[in-house]
Amino acid sequence: MAGAHIRTTVGIVGAGPAGLMLSHLLARSGIESVVVDNRTRPEIEGTSRAGILEAGNVRLLTESGASDRVCREGRPHGGIELRFGGESHRVDFEALVGRNVWLYPQTDVFTDLADARERDGADVRFGVSGTRVVDLTGERPGILFTDADGVHREVRCDILVGADGSRGVCRAAVPEAARTHFYREYPFAWFGVLVEAPPSAAELVYTHSEHGFALISRRTESVQRMYFQCDPDEDPAAWSEDRIWAELQRRVRGADGFTLKEGPVTDRSVLRFRSFVCEPMRFGNMLLAGDAAHTVPPTGAKGLNLALADVRVLAEVLETALAKRDHGVLDAYGPRALRRVWRAQHFTYWMTTMLHRVPGSAAFDVRRQLAELAGVVDSTAGSTYLAEAYTGWSAE
Ligand code: DHB
Repeated sequence: MAGAHIRTTVGIVGAGPAGLMLSHLLARSGIESVVVDNRTRPEIEGTSRAGILEAGNVRLLTESGASDRVCREGRPHGGIELRFGGESHRVDFEALVGRNVWLYPQTDVFTDLADARERDGADVRFGVSGTRVVDLTGERPGILFTDADGVHREVRCDILVGADGSRGVCRAAVPEAARTHFYREYPFAWFGVLVEAPPSAAELVYTHSEHGFALISRRTESVQRMYFQCDPDEDPAAWSEDRIWAELQRRVRGADGFTLKEGPVTDRSVLRFRSFVCEPMRFGNMLLAGDAAHTVPPTGAKGLNLALADVRVLAEVLETALAKRDHGVLDAYGPRALRRVWRAQHFTYWMTTMLHRVPGSAAFDVRRQLAELAGVVDSTAGSTYLAEAYTGWSAE
């Protein structure tokens, strides 16, 4: 481990939940890996991320021994509220599909995985720089980087995994002629805040209003997470706390008198929207997982869930490929993972376009959205589709 040259079986770029979970699952099957990330642990832990886990991913965390904290500190949610026309309508996941989701922030998933990897003595290197991936079509692909102490290092592996996010080096290292990008931009973003206040609602509230979308989510009894639709170029620093609260309140206002419990805003950021898929998910002996291969808009909280679903499939495919010494098996990964990815692309696109106001859209579109929302909550078929997708499709 001390030398500049490091030999391992699977080299993983990116120590977010995808990279760490993959390393954890591989270790359970006796497969060695090295993980590198150019961010430090505190940098990753200091970033606000989404908060919803599908029950299948909670099981993955607990059954693999990565986290038991999720059972103590996570909160099961049996449904969501869809709020439109100033009224809330509950979509009851448990009654519709017999499944729920869990509120447990991505930051906590990361912390649990990083702790588990440290506890098991894994080789995870945070805070590296200048990461490059090389020889992707060769027998020994490599990760070159400078570690946190300024030492140049080289990891050589049998299979390299790019779990380094949407702006990472791995996807960019695939020649353009060898990848196809599918994407859609949206003319809006989310203004996300963390606030010190008691919960305003028992479950998540997804709100359609003539002023645009708002989402009321939770973190703890004293900290809440909320979002409202804004312009992609909005400067979060330009908003006073009073203006943030006035905007959130006017989006959720209705005849039922629902109001948000207010408190100091402790964190704010603008989240850009993009739907994106890169195909195939394999190039030579490198495989892409999570945001490195695809991104979804945040509506519906599928990003982390898709990343964990990818690594579930990937761990299985890697085990088979390594046991059989047959890299041809790796071809099965992308098509299997992409079935779920494209379902989630459709679901998040649908939730996004149903709930957001397109700037400059006609009154016709707002009426059409309201009819679509009524069609979902008034119909068992409509709300069952939402419940199935939100809680996560069963295994591939
Ligand atoms: C949260 C984020 C989402 O994008 C979503 O759909 C639900 C919840 C959250 O941060 O709590």
